[in-house]
Amino acid sequence: MLRPPTWALTALLTLAPGILSNPQGGTTTTTTAPPTNTSVSPVACNNSPELCSRAYNNITHMGAHDSAFLRDASTGNSIAGNQFYNATVALSAGIRLLQAQVHLSGNTLQLCHTSCSLLDAGPLETWLAKIKYWLDTNPNEVITLLLVNIDNQPASAFGSAFDRSGIATYGFTPPSGLGNNSSNNTTTKTTTWPTLQSLITSNTRLVTFIASLPSSSSQEEKPSYLLNEFTYLFETPYNVTSLSSFTCTLDRPSSSSTNNSSSATAAAAAAISSGLLPLLNHFAYIALTQDIMIPNAGDVDTTNSPSETDTGALGQHVRACMAEWGGGGSGGGGGGVKPVFVLVDFFDRGPAVETADRVNGIDGPVGRVSVGGGGGKASMGGRLGVGMALVAWLGVGLVVF
Ligand SMILES: *[C@@H]1O[C@H](CO)[C@@H](O)[C@H](O)[C@H]1NC(C)=O
Ligand SMILES: *[C@@H]1O[C@H](CO)[C@@H](O)[C@H](O)[C@H]1NC(C)=O
Ligand SMILES: *[C@@H]1O[C@H](CO)[C@@H](O)[C@H](O)[C@H]1NC(C)=O
Ligand SMILES: *[C@@H]1O[C@H](CO)[C@@H](O)[C@H](O)[C@H]1NC(C)=O
Ligand SMILES: *[C@@H]1O[C@H](CO)[C@@H](O)[C@H](O)[C@H]1NC(C)=O
Ligand SMILES: *[C@@H]1O[C@H](CO)[C@@H](O)[C@H](O)[C@H]1NC(C)=O
Ligand SMILES: *[C@@H]1O[C@H](CO)[C@@H](O)[C@H](O)[C@H]1NC(C)=O
Ligand SMILES: *[C@@H]1O[C@H](CO)[C@@H](O)[C@H](O)[C@H]1NC(C)=O
Ligand SMILES: *[C@@H]1O[C@H](CO)[C@@H](O)[C@H](O)[C@H]1NC(C)=O
Ligand SMILES: *[C@@H]1O[C@H](CO)[C@@H](O)[C@H](O)[C@H]1NC(C)=O
Repeated sequence: MLRPPTWALTALLTLAPGILSNPQGGTTTTTTAPPTNTSVSPVACNNSPELCSRAYNNITHMGAHDSAFLRDASTGNSIAGNQFYNATVALSAGIRLLQAQVHLSGNTLQLCHTSCSLLDAGPLETWLAKIKYWLDTNPNEVITLLLVNIDNQPASAFGSAFDRSGIATYGFTPPSGLGNNSSNNTTTKTTTWPTLQSLITSNTRLVTFIASLPSSSSQEEKPSYLLNEFTYLFETPYNVTSLSSFTCTLDRPSSSSTNNSSSATAAAAAAISSGLLPLLNHFAYIALTQDIMIPNAGDVDTTNSPSETDTGALGQHVRACMAEWGGGGSGGGGGGVKPVFVLVDFFDRGPAVETADRVNGIDGPVGRVSVGGGGGKASMGGRLGVGMALVAWLGVGLVVF
């Protein structure tokens, strides 16, 4: 999301592989499991029978932030990577929201992190085709994409990639009146999203938000399943560099009334009552310099922890927001406002999906393939050590440059 100077990060990455050969820590021996058909029970929806009759917006969808940008062998363990496992492995592990940045490279929509010279994860179309295959083989699952349109490309360009990958067939078009559509008559407004079962029955199991589509995109060229993110969602701040700094306030869609914390708190409440769905950003960066920030992998066992009391823990952040947004603090499956979307880095740690299960009131989810440090039992000290060494070493590197 951020745009540090490319030359600096490229230089750092060139130098980094030696020290970063295994940023996941030496104790992890798990290897990536091949994706399998996770729909073991035909009656489970999104890993639980209890979710079938639940409205899409009455579920917390756990998400992988920058899900195409990996810190693994395929990228030489790039420090720009936000995830240890790829997007379809994430889906098999229970992740139901995939976020990524889309850039224009030549004439192609390309998944790149900050810039294509820093981390290039290939064409959007190729990635979508893999996700389409996952949807084919997992017919009872509903997933959400959130794509950041960095180069302000037209809706038709996205539509072409969705068509050519084959995934367009699964695209969900919301009924009119959902979201905050200022250009339509507000009396047609509704806050009722379909249930998972209804999305599964109609086989429109892909909800796609884009931030944002240019307003010049004409209605004829805009596929109806490509949704402008901020017509339907609002987000909490994403630029967090301290585990004590997570909040529940509205950061985007930005407006002049959201530039101080008390008005941003009020703006979150207003957004909820206008039917916008809350997206909780819950990942931390290490600020190496004022301009260069990298994902904080060292603290991730804390960041992604289900703990409801530890500072910076996912469980604590979700609990605080449910209380602030009027949903009660119990974290149970009852009524009230829950984060509909959550984005984390290194989703397998925590594991992050455990917090969503608790909020959703799910016991014993079925059909998941667990990966990586999901148990959260691996030593935090080791990875913290790597993180600290990284900061110190990069400090030296920057002086050199
Ligand atoms: C993730 O990795 C698996 C196993 O290597 C591979 O089959 C799958 O296509 C990959 N998915 C994506 C989205 O790259
Ligand atoms: C996956 O599982 C579902 C539910 O059991 C089944 O209907 C479907 O045919 C399976 N797909 C494949 C490719 O095995
Ligand atoms: C806008 O509202 C009208 C009724 O006033 C409705 O018929 C129409 O479908 C709505 N269009 C959209 C795109 O929401
Ligand atoms: C908003 O309303 C306008 C006018 O009815 C309609 O053309 C447009 O499709 C609507 N947008 C969404 C996201 O519903
Ligand atoms: C919206 O619809 C209501 C009821 O149909 C109507 O009274 C009102 O004038 C409409 N407002 C606008 C701005 O079109
Ligand atoms: C992000 O936060 C850091 C540290 O708080 C700050 O220095 C930087 O200006 C912020 N960047 C953006 C784009 O908000
Ligand atoms: C917030 O925005 C208002 C209106 O644009 C401006 O007058 C005010 O100075 C801003 N406050 C801060 C703290 O940036
Ligand atoms: C924050 O914004 C609100 C609404 O714009 C304003 O009433 C309040 O005075 C502002 N507070 C500060 C500390 O700037
Ligand atoms: C909904 O849209 C209207 C018109 O653009 C805007 O004034 C309002 O702030 C929006 N509400 C939220 C919560 O973003
Ligand atoms: C959300 O789901 C819970 C658990 O099934 C249910 O108790 C609650 O009534 C639902 N809320 C709404 C607004 O439908």
